[in-house]
Amino acid sequence: MEISRQVSKIQTPPITEVKSWLTGRTFPAEKPLIDLCQAVPSYSPPAELIDHLKNELDNPLTFKYSPDEGLPEVRDEVCNWYQRHYGSSPVREQICLTIGASQAFWLAFSTRCQPGDEVIVQLPAYFDHPMGLQALGIKIVYAPFDPATAGQPDLKTIERLITAKTKAILLVTPSNPTGAVISPPQIDSFFELAQAHNISLVLDETYNAFIGETPHQLFSRPDWAETFIQIASFGKTFAITGLRCGALIAADKFIQQALKVQDSMVVCQPRPTQLALEFGCRHLDKWVATNTTTMRQRHDRFKTDFLFANTSFELAASGSFFAWIKHPWDKLTGREAAKRLLTEANLICLPGETFGAGLEPYLRLSFGNIESSQIPQAIARLQQL
Ligand SMILES: Cc1ncc(COP(=O)(O)O)c(C=O)c1O
Repeated sequence: MEISRQVSKIQTPPITEVKSWLTGRTFPAEKPLIDLCQAVPSYSPPAELIDHLKNELDNPLTFKYSPDEGLPEVRDEVCNWYQRHYGSSPVREQICLTIGASQAFWLAFSTRCQPGDEVIVQLPAYFDHPMGLQALGIKIVYAPFDPATAGQPDLKTIERLITAKTKAILLVTPSNPTGAVISPPQIDSFFELAQAHNISLVLDETYNAFIGETPHQLFSRPDWAETFIQIASFGKTFAITGLRCGALIAADKFIQQALKVQDSMVVCQPRPTQLALEFGCRHLDKWVATNTTTMRQRHDRFKTDFLFANTSFELAASGSFFAWIKHPWDKLTGREAAKRLLTEANLICLPGETFGAGLEPYLRLSFGNIESSQIPQAIARLQQL
């Protein structure tokens, strides 16, 4: 059967590819596999959230559709969450609950762009973004990775990439894979750049809960919705990645159009997910704050131990969840280097080139996946190579 040319050109989902390397392998008890592959919190959601969902299973409504954009009371609770964490909030009509940030991304770009339009994407790029844009027939214009800025996007470079066909600048903060956090004043500058060119600033803020500070003040601008589109995820925030919990935040007129895609794609975010989201927003601020601290300590520990270990790997950038490291093997691609780490160190991670062409010298380590106590072991294995 013939397959769409634009889909067949897309790379295989990197996590699927890398996990397939594990098939048929076993690992000895004295050197078990260290999985630094996928960005999933190492901990479970709190017992009270699980108990809440268990109780809701007795309610027949839990198993029914909700309105396409999500239940009003859940979206109101999301507004309250924004008010507390961003100091200002979108209104209910500016929120559409989605099946993870992943689906919010599809709503955003299928609503904002047509095939042939251009979107500026910062390298290294979270792989699902180019994959989605390619499937939609959108032209990706990459802003290069500059090791000197450790993954920070550069305003002047991005400005030079804007053309008459540009519809949006897409940034991820904190970044996957570098962990780099774009500061609020920088975000303001990108907003103003987008506004001046009448294009959109799309921020994927999947890891916002791990910054520990107000990510930006865009929602306090009266005109934010003319320019800004937010891709939100609560999967990492409440450790419910499997419930697929995200949101598209944009102008109410934009949401109205996006609902056409939402209805044809999924109808609505599943109700059990909405119930978890409502509970999390209402009750879990303290629990999230504790985990933010844990993740920061985990990052600090990783960074200190890594630099102290003086390995032949180089720390190019790091932040919440991730380290973006340069491997020492000039002649190996990231894929080959990652396979070597699996074979010789029983450690699995993602090759740099899955985050964009030209990034073969790099690897992404997702230490958010492992307990703090496993970090010295992971670094010792790199040291032994
Ligand atoms: C930057 C970024 N955006 C979106 C996602 C997907 O989030 P969700 O699980 O909410 O779809 C991820 C998941 O790892 C991510 O790293």
